[in-house]
Amino acid sequence: MFGLINRAFERFILRDYGAESWNAIRHAANIEASTFISMDVYDDEMSFRLFEAAAQHLAYSRDDLLERFGESWVDVGASAGFGPVMRLGGSNLTDFILNLDNLHTRLGLTFSALRPPSFRVELTSSADHSPCIRLHYRSDRQGLTSFVVGVLRGLGKHFNEPVDVRIEQATQGRQASFLVQPLSRHE
Ligand code: HEM
Repeated sequence: MFGLINRAFERFILRDYGAESWNAIRHAANIEASTFISMDVYDDEMSFRLFEAAAQHLAYSRDDLLERFGESWVDVGASAGFGPVMRLGGSNLTDFILNLDNLHTRLGLTFSALRPPSFRVELTSSADHSPCIRLHYRSDRQGLTSFVVGVLRGLGKHFNEPVDVRIEQATQGRQASFLVQPLSRHE
């Protein structure tokens, strides 16, 4: 995966758990590099080793860890130089989610080594007729479903539109659909 992801992970751990934890996690994952280059491509396996080591070190389940990392993505991803892309993605949650596939496809055109996930959006309504979004996710990679849950929650906070995110269906960790509902209607 692009170094951007490992870099964002490093920032997330440093920000929330401190340098000692980051060093312990890095060593447990056998990672020599002290920092990652955003636009270099690293083995996916390296990122997965980091996630595994962090989950163990912090005593979280892997899914819990990925959700937390996902939630931090808007802040740490934007601060890793993707602020302008964030702004291009839209000025509210629905527009941003509608643009998600386009955003990754465009990045994939610019950086040919990218294997971006794909997204399809259904605008729908919940049982109580409030508008909500069904998001279909598909990836080459396995096991990142909880990361998507976290990113969607983080996006909701970023746009001041807090949401509840539920996994409706997940297949072999490579495909999933999520129901994204505004939280205020349920509180
Ligand atoms: C400014 C916004 C964003 C940028 C610049 C961005 C960029 C990227 C990049 C560069 C990758 C690495 C792909 C690779 O190395 O092959 C990636 C992966 C990924 N992105 Fe995004 N992304 C953004 C927002 C989001 C959002 C909002 C979501 C989900 C709701 C998301 C979900 C994912 C997932 C799940 C992956 C892991 C790869 C996979 O599933 O196969 N991204 N993104």
